[in-house]
Amino acid sequence: MRIIMLGAPGAGKGTQAKKIAEKYGIPHISTGDIFRANIKNGTELGKKAKTYMDQGLLVPDELTCDLVVDRIQQDDAKNGYVLDGFPRTIPQAECLTAALEKLGSKIDYAIDVDVPDENIVNRMSGRRACLKCGATYHIVYAAPKKENICDTCGEALVLRDDDKPETVSKRLKVYHEQTQPLIDYYTKQGVLKTVDGTCALDEVFKAIVEILGE
Ligand code: AP5
Ligand code: ZN
Repeated sequence: MRIIMLGAPGAGKGTQAKKIAEKYGIPHISTGDIFRANIKNGTELGKKAKTYMDQGLLVPDELTCDLVVDRIQQDDAKNGYVLDGFPRTIPQAECLTAALEKLGSKIDYAIDVDVPDENIVNRMSGRRACLKCGATYHIVYAAPKKENICDTCGEALVLRDDDKPETVSKRLKVYHEQTQPLIDYYTKQGVLKTVDGTCALDEVFKAIVEILGE
């Protein structure tokens, strides 16, 4: 099963993508996580990506597309994957479609997690992230067992640099301008499914499982 998660920053794409990956035994591929890991490790890619991410801007397509096209050809992605945060622009979607055509495969579902802008800032300000293993929490809706400590790996949790309210507004603007057009793009491909992302975490996941099947 090859799945794309669409939705505004903070809509819950990452949260749901992790649950999908676990239930269906496919890798969760998040371009945001890949960039954050590169920033943490001080790589050249990380240094380049950071300048854009800190401003709430998108990393240029040419740094992003090849990375994902390589990743989806690795052994663990043979039976499918869930892409989170990619594609994010029409050129990225076109690059993915072309790469999949060459590989003789296609996207089965593009799931749009729909949340209005009003709800987003609240979600972001309460989000806490583990930069070691990529786990995500919320201080109210998905709290870790021990305050500010990752359940999975014990690392201290942080507020992401790009989750400050002024950067969140910028990211929302960029989302509407550059990413929302993908809803049309995948509707035309006949694979778009929309779920109401304002419900509780488990309700959203239930709606996704109804789409994907047990
Ligand atoms: P990325 O990491 O992809 O960030 P994003 O798309 O902005 O998405 P987020 O991770 O912020 O949110 P999410 O939808 O995954 O929500 P989450 O599940 O965490 O990208 C970051 C940056 O990297 C970009 O700005 C860009 O610069 C760069 N980048 C990445 N990919 C790129 C690409 N392809 N091209 C160019 N640049 C790229 O949930 C949010 C919070 O809400 C959490 O605290 C969660 O616990 C809580 N929550 C989730 N669901 C619910 C619910 N139903 N009810 C209550 N709380 C909930
Ligand atoms: Zn962790």
